[in-house]
Amino acid sequence: VAEIARVKNINSIEIGEHLVDTWYFSPYPEEFTRSLLVYICEFCLEPFGSKRCFQRHRLKCTLQHPPGNEIYRKDDLSFFEIDGRKQKRWCRNLCLLSKLFLDHKTLYYDVDPFLFYVMTKTDKLGYHLVGYFSKEKESAENYNVACILTLPQYQRKGFGKLLISFSYELSKTEGKTGSPEKPLSDLGLLSYRSYWIDTILAYLYNHKGETSINEISRVTSITNDDVLHTLQTLDLLRYYKGSFIICLSDKNIEYHEKNMKKKRVTIDPAYLKWTPPH
Ligand code: COA
Ligand code: NA
Repeated sequence: VAEIARVKNINSIEIGEHLVDTWYFSPYPEEFTRSLLVYICEFCLEPFGSKRCFQRHRLKCTLQHPPGNEIYRKDDLSFFEIDGRKQKRWCRNLCLLSKLFLDHKTLYYDVDPFLFYVMTKTDKLGYHLVGYFSKEKESAENYNVACILTLPQYQRKGFGKLLISFSYELSKTEGKTGSPEKPLSDLGLLSYRSYWIDTILAYLYNHKGETSINEISRVTSITNDDVLHTLQTLDLLRYYKGSFIICLSDKNIEYHEKNMKKKRVTIDPAYLKWTPPH
């Protein structure tokens, strides 16, 4: 259902320790949009229009992590898998919250067809929501991500690429390739491009002998199309004696070696405890 783009109705939210300015309209019930500041319980994601109601709720709320199975944990980073059909209210709350930062004209109230992969950081108070992506249980177009979001207070710290990396780890476990749902936002595209470049350069750098687009796609679960576009972006394809070859330049090697020196948290597939549902 197409929804007319509407003016931003909530100015900011308080979630956990963070006061966050919102970006876009989100169809929260009208009772909340009368106040400029909405309080959101960081664990059950319920919205509150006043501090008093919120504080009363916090005394009762016992949730300390997202309501699903923890399928990954390494150090303080965890992922939970949540079925939209089983946790409708929580997943609708997550969609309402994320719409504040997504410029899409449609929001799917029907969360049943989706699984939600929620990334958290742990401290002594609980598992704090950092970001998530949703994934259709059955995607005819072979999408492995529908929506993806890092909450603004955690953006530009590498969490987006961790979410993307996790989505490809799931595809590898499924033995499939996948691509994010189109259209992507500008920020989404930037993050994906950067992930594809890093991943494909790392593969080529470490690979001995011949390879092909099919081979890169099989190993990384990045679709042939996305591999091809990335190779073109990096100017890695050379026409040689009637066929294309993939050729790393000094510039690519330099970029990759510099990249490897950055201290970055990565997804370690050894810590993924997951079998594909259905
Ligand atoms: N300006 C310029 N570059 C940016 C950027 C910005 N505002 N935000 C991210 N990037 C670049 C980073 O430089 C990084 O590249 P690098 O690793 O090569 O330096 C890359 O994008 C990923 O950054 P990262 O910190 O891993 O991502 P993030 O945690 O900020 O999350 C999104 C990225 C897309 C998930 C986040 O911006 C977001 O939630 N946006 C709103 C929702 C959205 O648009 N989702 C996608 C469509 S469904
Ligand atoms: Na999308």
